[in-house]
Amino acid sequence: MIEGYPEIARDVASLKRAPNLGDWAALRESFSWDDMWAELDTPGGLINMAHECIDRHANGANADKPAIIWQAADDHVETYTYGDFKRQSNKVANALKGLGIEKGERVFILSDRIPELYFSCFGILKIGAIMAPLFSAFGPEPIKERVARAEGSVIITTPKLLPKVNAIRSQLPSVRHVIVIAHREGATVAPEDIDYASIVDPASEEFEVERTGAEDWSVMHFTSGTTGLPKGAAHVHNAIVGHYATGKYALDLQPDDIYWCTADPGWVTGTSYGMFAPFSNGVTALIDEAGFAARRWYRLIQDHRVTVWYTAPTAIRLLMRSGESLPAQFDLSSLRFVGSVGEPLNPEAVVWGNRVFEQPILDNWWQTETGSIMCANYPSQPVRPGSMGRPFPGVHVTVVDDEGNELTEPAAEGALVVQPPWPSMFRTYWNDQERYDSRFKNGWYYTGDRAKRDEDGYIWFVGRDDDVINTAGHLVSPFEVESVLIEHPAVAEAGVIGKPDEVAMEVVKAFVTLNEGHSETPELMRELNRHCRDRLGPAVAPREIAVIDILPKTRSGKIMRRLLKARELGLPEGDTSTLEED
Ligand code: PRX
Repeated sequence: MIEGYPEIARDVASLKRAPNLGDWAALRESFSWDDMWAELDTPGGLINMAHECIDRHANGANADKPAIIWQAADDHVETYTYGDFKRQSNKVANALKGLGIEKGERVFILSDRIPELYFSCFGILKIGAIMAPLFSAFGPEPIKERVARAEGSVIITTPKLLPKVNAIRSQLPSVRHVIVIAHREGATVAPEDIDYASIVDPASEEFEVERTGAEDWSVMHFTSGTTGLPKGAAHVHNAIVGHYATGKYALDLQPDDIYWCTADPGWVTGTSYGMFAPFSNGVTALIDEAGFAARRWYRLIQDHRVTVWYTAPTAIRLLMRSGESLPAQFDLSSLRFVGSVGEPLNPEAVVWGNRVFEQPILDNWWQTETGSIMCANYPSQPVRPGSMGRPFPGVHVTVVDDEGNELTEPAAEGALVVQPPWPSMFRTYWNDQERYDSRFKNGWYYTGDRAKRDEDGYIWFVGRDDDVINTAGHLVSPFEVESVLIEHPAVAEAGVIGKPDEVAMEVVKAFVTLNEGHSETPELMRELNRHCRDRLGPAVAPREIAVIDILPKTRSGKIMRRLLKARELGLPEGDTSTLEED
């Protein structure tokens, strides 16, 4: 327990709803993934994520139930039922087939949160192709790296985002088609591109979903590493069993819920929990096209009577900053579950939630690689503010020492590991099997995080084991930023760190040394900032760039980011025995 933050008891009888998970220990005993699989519709052992999420509902009693309530940035609302969703995704599937796209090909989506993004996602899955979303705030460079690494065949985008694709298109020989969703922007489409409406509108509403098996590829998300460029974590259709089960027991989704996940589908939370968990559970999902704004968010909860809300610590900290009189102006009484993921959730945020939403915010933990929630706080269980909760039934999450032995002593710190396999576990890093294999050792999957486990099995996040930066819940690879910086003629070398930030947890900070003939002028600094924003986009570009005389490096020439960080924070420099400049 963190001092000053006592456990918050939960009285099941007084919850607004009887939760799906009544007793954690009992479900842990009785849980079986086979039972979860059996709750889905898997004819002859075949499983397709789009069928589980859409067609099985559209073919049954949920045909006329809203799947998506879309709140446009201009505040008009469009509602699509499961039946509509089936027809629209069938049309996309037929259109893609018409272009000759085959099972296993990688189809990228670079789009803001508009309904066509969701139709496309499931159309891609229906033909058995691999759905690979990109964050719309990426610049051309991160887009190029990801599409090139996965040898993508198609990019589906919008007129607004198309210039970023055009900037790197000549460097992407694998891309056969760029499909532009033009009608919402009233734009015309260049002859070399394909207008989404021109192929989707005339396509048939009937489609027979590809007969994918449990181990066929489904989704690829890119995740950041310390040393190399982002890696494509590839998932299989069987992952839906994990999305379904965690939607049911960790997010407590129930049939009449109005569910809102605020994450963008460019990141894994926005697919696993923005689409797959809610739709496989047959609930109605609210999708907001716009970004964060405290007043707007409270209004959406009130107007749509949101019941289950899954968001992130950065947003919660921003809400906390906007004060308590703001939420008091709205009727938030529909909320019965508030969840958080992506970064450590401060204990004070849990307590704040308990005041403002009359319930503690439930933190949970997982990763791109794990595909679904591995460890969670549940509505029926006592909440220990600052803890990520306890393992999801059916997965063994624990803390181990350097040899891979489970640490049994309470509060001992070690590597956070998960015992493989589980349904939504990633199956490879695309074209980098060696790196994938390196994540599995001593019978564990190593998450790259460090944690502690208390005597009751609650897990407490300690930190990452690497230099990957977590800014507002988005992982950024320092290497990716450094690579773009050193492409600038003035920059000799670059070292990039996560600088602690009160709201975003970390922001990207770059240190550079300059080439002969260049000096630190305001013009150069503006130019460097522009270079990074143009190439990397606002999601990845450094917030701060500082010029220094010399970058600390090991004798083998590796930049010591750890030391840069310690110096930035005025902390002890630790072991510098391998430092070159000594
Ligand atoms: O370091 C952990 C942090 O985010 C990482 C996973 O990021 P990503 O692969 O982008 O997946 C996003 C889906 C959640 C983790 O290795 N992280 C995630 N959740 C938490 C967290 N750190 C602390 N507390 C959490 N609840």
